[in-house]
Amino acid sequence: MTDEIWQACVVVPPQAIAAFDEALNEAPGMEALASSSFEIQGGEVEGGALWKIEVLFAPPVDQLVLEARVALAASSMDMAVPGLSLVALPDRDWVTHALHALPPVHAGRFFVHGAHDRGKSPAGAMALEVEAGRAFGNGKHETTYGCLLALDRLGKVRKFQRPLDLGCGAGVLALAMARLWRVPVVASDIDPWAVAVTRENSRGNHLHPWIKGVLADGFAHPALSSRAPYDLIVANILARPLQRLAPAIAAHLAPGGRVVLSGLLAKQDAQVRSIYRDQGLFLRRRRQIGEWITLELDHIRRT
Ligand SMILES: C[S@@+](CC[C@H](N)C(=O)[O-])C[C@H]1O[C@@H](n2cnc3c(N)ncnc32)[C@H](O)[C@@H]1O
Repeated sequence: MTDEIWQACVVVPPQAIAAFDEALNEAPGMEALASSSFEIQGGEVEGGALWKIEVLFAPPVDQLVLEARVALAASSMDMAVPGLSLVALPDRDWVTHALHALPPVHAGRFFVHGAHDRGKSPAGAMALEVEAGRAFGNGKHETTYGCLLALDRLGKVRKFQRPLDLGCGAGVLALAMARLWRVPVVASDIDPWAVAVTRENSRGNHLHPWIKGVLADGFAHPALSSRAPYDLIVANILARPLQRLAPAIAAHLAPGGRVVLSGLLAKQDAQVRSIYRDQGLFLRRRRQIGEWITLELDHIRRT
């Protein structure tokens, strides 16, 4: 049992997310590997919908300590103590794959691999072949991994028609979107080498009819602006460019569109979110892997 990963969950109202997230993530003597929080469909309370916080821990885990911290957080928020669920997950859980970061990478239904693993993709998986080290992004980094998980989930609930991979690196997210939806995908980067690698990877994965590689800083290229509005913009860049690009991302997003942001650290999360909130984009889902955050935003204000 020592290799198991433990998952702790609480369900809380939106105004209490930060307090309980911190209570679980900062539990002394325990190693929080990843956390995510998301709205529960249909769970309404005063102040908005209910949110579930899930935190994954490496062993050992002390249930009494976690319960005490949940009780303290509840008291600080002047609310009833929510139930804490603590379960052991099977060894080969997704975060184990994320954190061991060994190729190939399994991210939801995506199987990102190098040429040496060609043909080894599990039945039903969507294989994407990307060689390591040629441009950023072969799926191993927590930020790319977080975006792939977000795309996998979005792919189960919606078909996007006009997606953009802003800051495409090796193009893995553009490949994932083209594979999911078989629609034209724009993949842009400020780095000519990244655009060249993306084009090559698109051809190698037989997705080149769908993917348009563009060399551009942000949206400063007619090939990007003329294809707007996008119904999905995925930008795995860094906190500072993400903040700078917030007005342009909001301006190029279609009504009802979705934004996936990554490349920001946990300590930068609140500031990035507040800048996007000022642009009318609100948190829909948040995933933390290690220190890295992936956010999903849309136009619907919830709290
Ligand atoms: C962290 S990498 C992400 C690569 C890939 N999307 C992934 O998820 O693996 C960020 C990429 O954004 C590009 N980038 C940085 N600033 C940019 C900007 N202002 N406009 C377009 N691309 C930018 C970088 O050149 C780099 O390739």
